[in-house]
Amino acid sequence: MKFLVFGANSQLGQELIRLLTDTEIEFSALDTDQLDLLKPKEVVKAVSRINPTQLINVSTYSNLQKAESDPQAAKRCDLINTDGVTALARVCKQLNIPIIHHSSSYVFDGLKKETYDEEDEANPVCSYGKSKWYGERTLREEAEKHIILRTDWLFSAHRNKYFLNLIDSCKENAGKISVVDNRFSPTHAGDAARVILGIVKQVDCNAEVWGTYHYNAMQAVNQDQFVLHVLEEAAKLDAVLDKILPSLEIELLPVERPYIQNSALNASKIMGTFGIKQHSRGAGITAVLEEIYGVKKEKPPVQGSSAAITGDNERQARTTTRAKRKKTSTKKPSQSKPPAKKAVKQK
Ligand SMILES: NC(=O)c1ccc[n+]([C@@H]2O[C@H](COP(=O)([O-])OP(=O)(O)OC[C@H]3O[C@@H](n4cnc5c(N)ncnc54)[C@H](OP(=O)(O)O)[C@@H]3O)[C@@H](O)[C@H]2O)c1
Repeated sequence: MKFLVFGANSQLGQELIRLLTDTEIEFSALDTDQLDLLKPKEVVKAVSRINPTQLINVSTYSNLQKAESDPQAAKRCDLINTDGVTALARVCKQLNIPIIHHSSSYVFDGLKKETYDEEDEANPVCSYGKSKWYGERTLREEAEKHIILRTDWLFSAHRNKYFLNLIDSCKENAGKISVVDNRFSPTHAGDAARVILGIVKQVDCNAEVWGTYHYNAMQAVNQDQFVLHVLEEAAKLDAVLDKILPSLEIELLPVERPYIQNSALNASKIMGTFGIKQHSRGAGITAVLEEIYGVKKEKPPVQGSSAAITGDNERQARTTTRAKRKKTSTKKPSQSKPPAKKAVKQK
């Protein structure tokens, strides 16, 4: 067993490397500075030289907003997420190596009310979503031995801007914040890495499990519920925030492209095929906040014990009653910086 990971510096790549290191599985991990996916000849050379038993691709172009507003960025997004995947798929086919490729719930249009199944028709509406969908298609065409794992929004200590901006904005605006009114299932990148590891171990045992699978943390939430969960956890570590929280007011803003109304995924197929259970996101949120506030971690963030799951459900019930929700038709702030500094309320 020897894995090759593309996208070593991605938040998911970092978590995967941590897990692989813990399990002492042999692996190599490459990022842009070692190998540019857009140089297919270099890709062939590198993969042939390393000669892995499986290739895991978690590299991506991921700036949704830039890809939507800047034609040059959209082109780059398309190249990396489509042509880059083609290069990997071809070398995997040539060398008869299975490829595990990470994709996104943004291949859907977000109009479905329930969580998305693998059989639901893809209909991406933004540049990033389209590029991920084209990447999936090229992989299916080029490499028979493939697994596509789609997840919803990932968070981790490696990409903690969302958490930092949320906390700062809440403090600066005396508890008045704005979030986009979307439904999703935020997932700790460490949890997604756990799922990848579960898959590749079974592929290593010659399981014929090729195809597309969905995974995200259990229990989809609206973004205001997620934000409330994060702020309540943060308040346990932050006395200033704790004083502000009782006057918290969350304004809901309309969802606009590149974001979609509902990106939550149904993870029953991955459970049925691989026995991979959904974990709670609660432990992951706590871990990111502990990192931000410099609290020493006792254990890894993604153990997902049943105790953590129960805690998450209880919190859900508590938090929804605490914040005041207001709908508004004002312009939305960026998703990577969800709470607007100055929320304009509807009169
Ligand atoms: N983040 C999310 O919310 C989310 C949600 C659903 C699915 N996903 C999927 O999960 C996977 C990992 O996402 P992530 O958020 O962890 O990614 P990320 O942190 O944005 O990192 C992407 C990585 O890809 C590398 N990369 C970009 N262009 C490359 C190229 N031409 N050649 C080689 N490497 C290149 C980047 O290297 P540089 O840093 O050097 O540019 C970076 O390390 C992706 O497939 C993504 O689509 C992510």
